[in-house]
Amino acid sequence: MRTLRKIGFAAGLALSVAVPAHAFASEPTIPPEPATFPAEGKIHYVARDSILEFKALPEYHEPDWVTEKYVKTGKLPPVKDRLPKEPLVFKTANMTDGTGVYGDTMRHVIGGRPEGWNYGAGQTQGWGGIDIGLSECLTRTAPLFQVEAKDTEPLPNLAKSWDWSSDGHKLTMHLIEGAKWSDGVPFNADDVMFYWDDEVVDPNVSPLNGATPETFGVGTTLKKVDDYTVEWTFKEAFPRQYLYAMAYGTFCPGPAHILKPQHPKYSKNTYDQFKNAFPPEYMNLPVMGAWVPVEYRPDDIIVMRRNPYYWKVDEKGNQLPYLNELQYKLSTWADRDVQAVAGSGDFSNLEQPENFVASLKRAADKNAPARLAFGPRLIGYNLRMNFSANGWGNPDERGQAIRELNRNEDFRKAVTMAVDRKALGDSLVKGPFTAIYPGGFSSGTSFYDRKSTVYYPFVNFLAGTAGGKNVEIVMLVNNDYTTDKSLAEGVVAQMEKLGLRVVLNGVNGTQRDAIQYSGRFDWLIRRNDQELTSVVQNTEQLAPVGPKTSWNHRAPESGEVDLMPFEKDLVDIVNKFVTTQDNDQRADLMRQFQKISTENVYNVGLTEYPGALIINKRFSNIPQGTPIFMFNWAEDSIVRERIFVAADKQAKYELYPEELPGKPGDKGPM
Ligand code: GLA
Repeated sequence: MRTLRKIGFAAGLALSVAVPAHAFASEPTIPPEPATFPAEGKIHYVARDSILEFKALPEYHEPDWVTEKYVKTGKLPPVKDRLPKEPLVFKTANMTDGTGVYGDTMRHVIGGRPEGWNYGAGQTQGWGGIDIGLSECLTRTAPLFQVEAKDTEPLPNLAKSWDWSSDGHKLTMHLIEGAKWSDGVPFNADDVMFYWDDEVVDPNVSPLNGATPETFGVGTTLKKVDDYTVEWTFKEAFPRQYLYAMAYGTFCPGPAHILKPQHPKYSKNTYDQFKNAFPPEYMNLPVMGAWVPVEYRPDDIIVMRRNPYYWKVDEKGNQLPYLNELQYKLSTWADRDVQAVAGSGDFSNLEQPENFVASLKRAADKNAPARLAFGPRLIGYNLRMNFSANGWGNPDERGQAIRELNRNEDFRKAVTMAVDRKALGDSLVKGPFTAIYPGGFSSGTSFYDRKSTVYYPFVNFLAGTAGGKNVEIVMLVNNDYTTDKSLAEGVVAQMEKLGLRVVLNGVNGTQRDAIQYSGRFDWLIRRNDQELTSVVQNTEQLAPVGPKTSWNHRAPESGEVDLMPFEKDLVDIVNKFVTTQDNDQRADLMRQFQKISTENVYNVGLTEYPGALIINKRFSNIPQGTPIFMFNWAEDSIVRERIFVAADKQAKYELYPEELPGKPGDKGPM
């Protein structure tokens, strides 16, 4: 039995908790070597510049029905006039099955629900790739999973090229010229500036994925040079890292011609009215993405049809996308797995281990409708503690006392030692899937270094030895996922031995985000995001480098982030990483980050495991070895606009055959 000592807090409450009497009840070590789990999907590595280019082609094509029904009747200009001067061209050599044919649908199933279409003002569309399909961003990173790390720089997208000034403080971006929104209105620098000035920089607006000015570096500015040129100015020289922040989900501008008239700066609207000006029922919001939402039935479906102004083509000049429609059945995340393996849905990121065994069994049948391939261990979960002791989320006396506990190093070590990671993993799925994960980077990322990872092994505190009767901790959890709930329940039981009463605040994903962003939690359980799986994507979220960049430590309305000393070190490392060009130095910085963050238990890792992409066998051009999550989710990494269904495999799933999107705000297609 371990001896325990009490740490008490004079926060006006008789609050105490037992922690191991010595600095360590278990000696810190490195995590055990995980069971090998060979990724089945082997990535086929390619050079970065072999993926796409921008150029004019001698001729362009579109589906015949678009020409017949829309162009010949004068409803749409000819395809060559709808495309930019130099469209984005996907190179055939990078397409697994080559150039494709038009037709068919991808049937998605999701567990989220749309709040509305105002992504730039923070509304979710229900996730599962809906917003990814609507959004086009200055740069693109998802396909980089197939590029060797040393060759990695974000791909051009809405920004077709960029140059650095010789001192590295200015970055001039050249936007694609002559591209149009899905309603035919030109896209230009005004759209980019509206997103920056009135959504990112305006403190009353928070875009969905949390872009803040600091996402692009403290003191960074952006200005319009002309209709197709914008210029960034950075405090640091050559912060190439910010090119990743210009990808999904932090720099994907919305249609200024529709959004601006509703923004409080240009109307009588309040910020709330602006946010809610485009409810889920609002159809045909102009997008730069390949499909436009044309139908929404609550708790049933969202249907999206091809964007006739889409600005990407294949090398034969075929306007993309090949798929005429995307469907989003509004169900549950677990049902997404079930439907994908059964063939009534087309796609799933198999990410909830509770479904692994049944899905594997079903997919093993050679007549199974879907392919299933596991990738590296890139899905992980952390318990995160609210570290703000200066008022983020306005805690009451009890809440404040918990914040002080969270900031106590001995307390965090006691908590991490009380987590039985083997048991947590086994409670999700038996077998070689889950691994001991102390926190920090996912073991599947190229920046992971096991030797720099500090692990405090599990200590079986005997029940009843701990005090802490007065300690009640409220833990926020997303109830949309079985896995989040299972892990949360596991943590509750394991913390009892430490004398901590953890009470769950289980809510849906949208509510979870709202509560988390406003800081109204003591602890929370969160599936890892890109900063831990790719490191170069969403890097600013690794530490509180800005007032609103960290998941669990933000500044109150007025005031600064009250950094603990080790957090200051983490912030310094991240800031250095962002401006360092040298690959060895970058790797070294991230080893330091991993060491400091795991040694100080910045996050309490719970478990990590691989995920599998499930995709119906009728689709072509699915890149081999696509991980379900790395720079972005697989919905982006598979590059849906390039996916097609061979003519002899096409199914009749389209709900709106031969229809195109209607006018903004109109019901239904054209
Ligand atoms: C949700 C799902 C993921 C993925 C993303 C896309 O988070 O759980 O598998 O589909 O949406 O944004």
